[in-house]
Amino acid sequence: MPVNNLISPIKIGTITVRNRIVFPPIDAALHTKGMAVDPRYIEFLSSLVENNGVGLVISEFTAIANGRFWLPASRIDKDEFIPGFRKLVDRVHTHDAKIFMQLAMLGGRAPTGRAIAPSAIESPLYPGVPEELTIDEIRWLVDKWVEGALRAQKIGFDGGEIRYGSSR
Ligand SMILES: Cc1cc2nc3c(=O)[nH]c(=O)nc-3n(C[C@H](O)[C@H](O)[C@H](O)COP(=O)(O)O)c2cc1C
Repeated sequence: MPVNNLISPIKIGTITVRNRIVFPPIDAALHTKGMAVDPRYIEFLSSLVENNGVGLVISEFTAIANGRFWLPASRIDKDEFIPGFRKLVDRVHTHDAKIFMQLAMLGGRAPTGRAIAPSAIESPLYPGVPEELTIDEIRWLVDKWVEGALRAQKIGFDGGEIRYGSSR
């Protein structure tokens, strides 16, 4: 790709990102004990847009529901998590960059507790054979993703990425 493309703006849906340099979701383990956004996480992501020219940041794995089968990185399953994320989003926006939230759950990869997945199928990425989700659980999870997305929108995130389970 010509370098000019890398540093030229790109439209994603209704937003325009100032360049094509994207920082992927990285679980930085910089949240508070209660899984809220910590000032250190704000400093970390802000430094990428302030000093390193990143145009779009995708926030770390952010749990849409809490439970033994979700890896707790950050959480967005309650309103109490909104203020921390708002500080993060406002800071990133100050520097003319965009930020998406990664709305996530761990599913079949859950290292402890109950592992759930669309099907009870073995995978090298899973510690064991997960339980198949029931129809009610699927409906519940859809609602949780919607609730998380609505909170992200209210906070001011420019977009969202849905992550389910086993990509790494
Ligand atoms: C320490 C660390 C934490 C990560 N956290 C996440 C995460 O929270 N969500 C996610 O989807 N991917 C996560 N990843 C994967 C990265 O976002 C990214 O996809 C990957 O590192 C880049 O691709 P590559 O390593 O195949 O080049 C993480 C990777 C590392 C090394």
